[in-house]
Amino acid sequence: MSTFADMTSDHVFQSRTEGCGAVIRHLRETDSTNQDARAWALDGASDGAVVIADHQRAGRGRFKRTWVSAPGKNLLLTLVIRRTLPRPALLPLAIGVGVCNTVRSFLPWSSAGLKWPNDVRIDGRKVAGILVESPGPGVYLAGIGLNVNQVDFPEDLATEPTSLMLETADRLRRADVFDRLMDALDDALDMLERGDLLPAYRSLLEGRGAEVQLEDGRRGVMKDVDASGGLVLETGTGVIVVHSGDVSLRPPPA
Ligand code: BTN
Repeated sequence: MSTFADMTSDHVFQSRTEGCGAVIRHLRETDSTNQDARAWALDGASDGAVVIADHQRAGRGRFKRTWVSAPGKNLLLTLVIRRTLPRPALLPLAIGVGVCNTVRSFLPWSSAGLKWPNDVRIDGRKVAGILVESPGPGVYLAGIGLNVNQVDFPEDLATEPTSLMLETADRLRRADVFDRLMDALDDALDMLERGDLLPAYRSLLEGRGAEVQLEDGRRGVMKDVDASGGLVLETGTGVIVVHSGDVSLRPPPA
C-alpha cells in the first residue's frame, strides 16, 4: 500500500481499498485543506476522499481562528464525507471520537479526552483541532489538525498545545498515525450511522460534573451531552442546552 509519506510531489493516489482515505490528494503546500476539499467535493470527490498537506499557509480553525502548524511535522487533512447521515449534528462529535481514539491508541496510559465539542486534549493541552463544514446537502468536510512531531509552538496560542511526540518522547511516522486515524474515523462513522455514538463520546468527554464557563460569561455545571450533541448545563437559573461555542473547564465546585 502506498502512503502519503512516500510521495515526493503533489499527487492523487489510491491508498486503502475503501472507507476513509480510499483516495488521497497529497499536497506539499496549500492555503487550507478544507478549502481544497470543498472545491474537490463540489467537483465530485467521493465519500472517504482525503486532502492532506505538509504545510498550510492559511490553516483555518473554528470561529474564524487560524490554525498554525510547523511544516512537515503534523497531520493536516480534510476528509470528504458524502453520505445521508442519520444525525448530521453529531458528525463533529463523531470526528472527535475518531481522533481521540487515535491519540489514545498511541498513548494508552494517558488521559486523552474531548473538551466539548471536539477539542482533543491530553491533561488540558490541545493535541488536535477539528473544523467540520458542509458545502451542500449530504456533503461534509471534516478538517483535522493533529499535532504529531512538533515540539516547539508559538507562545501566543489561545490554548496550550501539545503533540504526540511531546507526550510519548518518540518521533512517529506520520503515515502510521494517518493509517490509524483512518481506521478510527471509519469506526466512529459506523457508530454514528448505527446510532450508538453518544456512549462512546460521553466516555471521552472531559468535565462532567465540573463547573464550566461559556464565552459570554455564563456558568453552569456540566451535566451531559443531549441527543442533538448540545451541552447540557445546570445554571443558577435553570438547565440550558448550548449548541455552539467554546467552554472553559473549571475545577469541580467544592
Ligand atoms: C480548531 O480547533 O479551531 C479547528 C482546527 C482545524 C484545523 C484543521 S488543519 C486541516 C484543516 N484545514 C484547515 O484549514 N483547518 C483544518
